[in-house]
Amino acid sequence: MRVSRRAERIEPFYVMELAKAATRLATESAGQRPMIYLNIGEPDFTAPPLVQQAAERAIRDGRSQYTQALGLPALREAIAGWYGTHFGATVDPARIVVTAGASAALQLACLALIDAGDEILMPDPSYPCNRQFVQAAEGEARMIPCGPDQRFQLSAEQVRAHWGERTRGVLLASPSNPTGTSIARDELQRIATTVRERDGITLIDEIYLGLSHDAAYGQTALTLPDGLGGTVISVNSFSKYFNMTGWRLGWLVLPPALVPAVERLAQNLFICPSAISQHAALACFEPDSLAEYERRRAAFKARRDYFIPQLNRLGLTVPVMPDGAFYAWADVRALCQRWGIPPEASEPEAGGSWPLAFELMRRCQLAATPGRDFAQAEPGRYLRFSTANAMEQLQEAVARLEAAW
Ligand SMILES: Cc1ncc(COP(=O)(O)O)c(C=O)c1O
Repeated sequence: MRVSRRAERIEPFYVMELAKAATRLATESAGQRPMIYLNIGEPDFTAPPLVQQAAERAIRDGRSQYTQALGLPALREAIAGWYGTHFGATVDPARIVVTAGASAALQLACLALIDAGDEILMPDPSYPCNRQFVQAAEGEARMIPCGPDQRFQLSAEQVRAHWGERTRGVLLASPSNPTGTSIARDELQRIATTVRERDGITLIDEIYLGLSHDAAYGQTALTLPDGLGGTVISVNSFSKYFNMTGWRLGWLVLPPALVPAVERLAQNLFICPSAISQHAALACFEPDSLAEYERRRAAFKARRDYFIPQLNRLGLTVPVMPDGAFYAWADVRALCQRWGIPPEASEPEAGGSWPLAFELMRRCQLAATPGRDFAQAEPGRYLRFSTANAMEQLQEAVARLEAAW
């Protein structure tokens, strides 16, 4: 059967392809030491007890009917309250749209704002699915190389320089996946100003903002001064900070004028996000759950503080210390050289972090994600490690790397 040109254009999500290979290799080498999985960007924690109990209650009480397309009013209020207590931000619940994860939030925002041929600027490296959300809306993602000297994030100057006839806006993530680095507040303000002057959209993915380790960066774009906070579209999720990846729940904060358009799309495309997950998520904002989340955030920070210096010591240099999330974006050129892998090649399979990732699985039983998904400019130079893993696993990973090096 003929597949649409739209579907043909969607690239594979190599993170998932590599995860399949890791599972296969782990099975083939059963009997050897077990594989350590530092490849998937998913917290090793699950939803805390109160959230689990709330889900059980919702199922028992039959609260599984469709909800409003914008989400349960109580949940939208709870999220707004969290912005107040956690970030000192006043957010009207009427601006919040609950979605099936940040993925649906990004998809809804792109479908609501992008017309065929519109161009969206984003940093290279970026979360790979962003390009596909833009493409699915028939727009074009324009990746702009952003190096370590700019924390792998776009600058206002680049936005001005690359803004063209067809540019509609920017799609940023702060902290970012794969680098864990954020955009400095004053730079973000300059970007949002530049975009507003051009009547464009600043779409910012703040899915990792709850896992910020540095007060200088841990502020939401919704509080940008000069009314800019009211112009940005912020994406967030219960997946990362709230440890609920498989529950498929996230949200958007929109400028009020956009809510009706997004509501119409949400009604038609999704009807509503999972009712059980929404009822359960209300318990995320109970004091006990919030205290647990903060303990877990401290654990994520301790893992970062251990693992990144170890990578640097081993020559897998992480050029910018992540200020949030749970990633290490390591420059692997030295290890490629050591193991006789060409650091670059015209085909990603032939050189750099892609073949290195397979070599790491074979030699060290250690899975990490090559840069290929995230970066177009230098796909082979970096490897992404996820530190969302128990400290003992990270220590074992370091020991294996050291022995193999
Ligand atoms: C930057 C970023 N945005 C969005 C997503 C998708 O998250 P969700 O599970 O909320 O759909 C991810 C998942 O890894 C991510 O890293």
